Amino acid sequence: MKQLSDNVIWRQHGKAPEDWGKLIRYAGSLVFAVAAIFYLQNAITNVFQWQSHFNRLEDQSISLSELEYGRYRCLQDQQRPMVDYGLASKRLASLSKDTISNRVILKNTTIIDGDGKTSSNMTIVLRGSIIEQIHSSNEFIDDLADGGVIMDAAGRYVSPGLIEMHSHVGVRSLPQLWASEDVTETSAPVTSWARAIDGYKSNDLAIDLIASGGVTTSLVLTGAQNIISGEGYVFKMKRNDSPYSMLVNTSHDTNGKPQRYLKAALGENVKKTFQHRLGGPVTREGVSYHLRHALEAAKHLKQQQDVWCDSTKTKNSRNRLVHDPYPESLELQTLVDLLRGDIRLNVHCYETEDFYSLFDHSDEFGFNVSAVHHALASHLMIDELKSRQVAVATFADEWGFKPELYDTSFYLPKYLVDAGIPLALTTDHPAGYGKLLTYQAQVAYHYGVDADHAIASLTGVPAKALGLDNRIGYIRPGFDADLVVWNKHPLQLGATPLLVSINGDVVINATESLWTGIHPASDQSKGPPPQRTQKQNDPSACSPGQNDLVVQGITSDFFNDNNPDMEDKQHTNGTGTAVIRNGELVCVGKHHCRTLAQSLVRENHVPVLNVTDGYVLPGLTLLTRQYGLGEIPYEDSTMDGKHTEENLDHIVFARNGLRFGEQHLERCHRKGVTRLITAPLTDGFFHGMGAAFRTGASSVLDINAITCPECALHFTIGHEAKTKAISTISQQLQLLEEILTVRATSRPEYERAARGQLPVVVTTDHKDIIAQLIKLKRKTGANIIIVGGAEAHLVARELAEIELPVILWPGLCLPLTWDQRRCLVGPPLTPLSNAEALLQAGVLLGLGNWDYRQRHAEDALWEARWALGAVGKHSDALDMVSRNIDKMFGLRGSMEDVVIYEGNPFEFGASVAVVLEAGGIQRCWPEIEPPRFGYQPGGWKV
Ligand SMILES: *[C@@H]1O[C@H](CO)[C@@H](O)[C@H](O)[C@H]1NC(C)=O
Ligand SMILES: *[C@@H]1O[C@H](CO)[C@@H](O)[C@H](O)[C@H]1NC(C)=O
Ligand SMILES: *[C@@H]1O[C@H](CO)[C@@H](O)[C@H](O)[C@H]1NC(C)=O
Ligand SMILES: *[C@@H]1O[C@H](CO)[C@@H](O)[C@H](O)[C@H]1NC(C)=O
Ligand SMILES: *[C@@H]1O[C@H](CO)[C@@H](O)[C@H](O)[C@H]1NC(C)=O
Repeated sequence: MKQLSDNVIWRQHGKAPEDWGKLIRYAGSLVFAVAAIFYLQNAITNVFQWQSHFNRLEDQSISLSELEYGRYRCLQDQQRPMVDYGLASKRLASLSKDTISNRVILKNTTIIDGDGKTSSNMTIVLRGSIIEQIHSSNEFIDDLADGGVIMDAAGRYVSPGLIEMHSHVGVRSLPQLWASEDVTETSAPVTSWARAIDGYKSNDLAIDLIASGGVTTSLVLTGAQNIISGEGYVFKMKRNDSPYSMLVNTSHDTNGKPQRYLKAALGENVKKTFQHRLGGPVTREGVSYHLRHALEAAKHLKQQQDVWCDSTKTKNSRNRLVHDPYPESLELQTLVDLLRGDIRLNVHCYETEDFYSLFDHSDEFGFNVSAVHHALASHLMIDELKSRQVAVATFADEWGFKPELYDTSFYLPKYLVDAGIPLALTTDHPAGYGKLLTYQAQVAYHYGVDADHAIASLTGVPAKALGLDNRIGYIRPGFDADLVVWNKHPLQLGATPLLVSINGDVVINATESLWTGIHPASDQSKGPPPQRTQKQNDPSACSPGQNDLVVQGITSDFFNDNNPDMEDKQHTNGTGTAVIRNGELVCVGKHHCRTLAQSLVRENHVPVLNVTDGYVLPGLTLLTRQYGLGEIPYEDSTMDGKHTEENLDHIVFARNGLRFGEQHLERCHRKGVTRLITAPLTDGFFHGMGAAFRTGASSVLDINAITCPECALHFTIGHEAKTKAISTISQQLQLLEEILTVRATSRPEYERAARGQLPVVVTTDHKDIIAQLIKLKRKTGANIIIVGGAEAHLVARELAEIELPVILWPGLCLPLTWDQRRCLVGPPLTPLSNAEALLQAGVLLGLGNWDYRQRHAEDALWEARWALGAVGKHSDALDMVSRNIDKMFGLRGSMEDVVIYEGNPFEFGASVAVVLEAGGIQRCWPEIEPPRFGYQPGGWKV
């Protein structure tokens, strides 16, 4: 800039020289001027140099305040966060003696503590925000009665508030919207500087939902889309205007450095996020490089800090040379804290290669791993995890949708507990539903974790893994007054909190009707359900292919309605007999059937199978998405695929794409789900023709594989089905109406649909779309079936009037999206669940499944039973996954297949004993876990 203007001036001067003499004079003066300027400039420079020299002499070190700050930091660097186990007694000692009026006395409780141990007849005294006393008697209360409020728990189970150590509540708030999606700062592979608290929405409506499941504390982590996504925080699940008042653990609480938490992730997610970004990482190798690169920079900074501290250690260091302030970096400090041991590292990693590289980096840079999360291969790493004292925060049974979640075991939690590894169970809210944390423990218990460890996995273990077992996770004097009063044992299906207290404040209190009415008192004294046992089959009694079998020990017959021979259930316990003859169930009963059985055994040598507490049910049928059309939704190569057909004259048929014999269908069949209905996949509006098929078939060549090749036309109406060509919901509705009216003549299938002969299945949640479909049914008479139906309860009466059925998916609604946000969330926040309200209104109900995360088709009976809770009977729950589906689709399936269980399949703890199907016995005591493809002990498995 300056140069340019100089030139301009020079040219102007040079353009009009009037004569050469003048010019020479000019030149002479110019030389002089230049020389003068040169001299002057030198002099000035000298002055400045001298000045700067003088400054250095005067002040060789940084300012006093900078030095003091640095020294403070050096002191901090010497400290580690501690768990102050004296906290409880300090808190008790500081309770003032005269304000006992704010005592709450909870008498006649059955305490289940954070280690799972149970003690009855206990009195708990709360004072302010902490637990003051615990007494092992109910009488003691009389001495305290004058000071406070007395609540009689009437023997109910009381647990500490549950702790979820893997949640995204607040940073991915409900309903999920783009605007409030603040989980992972994906702008770089490593964003250790990000802090979840800066995006934490302290009025996320999920906070109440989560608390209503008895969860009082959540570790809110940043996401798993990049390698180090940032710092997580522990919040109490009590809404507040300020996220800071929800924090559990501040330096004020700890009187020192607070516990801190860092989130890292390895594996598929990170590769996926950066696959198209310049610089990647696109492989696990790249992920490791980026992690090590960041750690190396942090290590370097840490060394600089340590050197700085060393150089200022001596008292007279002020007189020594300290040119720079204490070295700091906003980007790197969190990682330095990791290297110093100030922050607990929580790592999302599934596969063994991820574990091994993680531990390699941890050895190289000298940091500890506090917990591995999800960690579905952790049972293959038992010794490594033990020697490193790493906790595992995982799921009871989440599998299927990504390769790293595919080869998993139902028994993973049991393997970990048996090996003595600390097991914390999590939901990953809202990926799973944070309210249903107990379900994780229930399922883990079903698959073999003992009751104590199952409870501890939601209380004591996560408390310790968070470094907060000095104040939460247990019912102990001086601990936070976080308590849950349960309507039944928390390992029982559908256990619901009646009262939840956080820091002594009641955040959830169920309505009067829930306290007294619909949950029978007998439930309160019930302990955990009986635990499932895997029976070894005796092939001489039962083997696949057999046509005749007598089963002894039957308690309940759900196959034949109103079986007179099995009435009076209390007295039939285990005294009934079932007879299978020529591949058919011929009778179940105590009298006539037993006589028949005796003669068959005597005269025809029909083998006998004994069960304990046997239940006879039809095979289950449900509507699914994806089941049968592939295995791993996140890997296209394993799937039939998603079609993009938008020409309404073309119909895609699911029957052409079915695949049999892999994990999804096998797991269904082994748990008694014998038939499924699945539609073709699309991201658009018109899926095509759904088919019903048997989960136990080996291929379409089996005569019985496809039981209904053209079962229904399937559509999705809603935001998720918008495409370029059909981009509005109104257009979707209009096209559906056209198919059932003006286009009906264009294809025979549409004509059958318009006449109500072929069901029209519409997946949608929003009340007003459902209302449109009610109108459409009124107008056309088509046999429309709603799937999803989160807001269906808002038009329940009209649905019942016009006999428009609803297939709920999920059975227990989670208001995840905008269109689901008015769903009835169920007890204890609303007296009825969505399913209960629809049942009461008289709507024909079914249950569907879309193979996502923690809800699997094979567990449909649990889900149906739970969704119907107190209102429905066992048979109502069963109908949702059998007869009602048949009725909606005009099938006969449920009357053809028979499943006999040992134990009550409407609760946890039952096992399948016999599957009878297609004219013969298909399975006897099936091991619930199908063998994997590949090498097994004993040979290569195909
Ligand atoms: C609890 O108290 C009741 C009487 O109120 C008594 O019958 C019962 O045995 C006690 N249970 C235990 C475990 O002490
Ligand atoms: C505790 O509650 C149970 C169940 O309601 C009741 O039978 C028992 O009498 C109660 N015990 C005391 C001491 O109140
Ligand atoms: C909880 O609700 C019940 C029933 O509505 C009521 O009787 C009780 O006082 C409430 N308890 C608390 C602690 O708010
Ligand atoms: C039947 O007896 C078994 C034990 O043999 C028991 O676990 C089960 O609860 C009983 N069932 C009913 C309905 O009473
Ligand atoms: C089945 O139980 C009966 C008695 O109810 C017993 O006689 C028979 O030996 C048992 N069979 C087997 C295979 O355990």
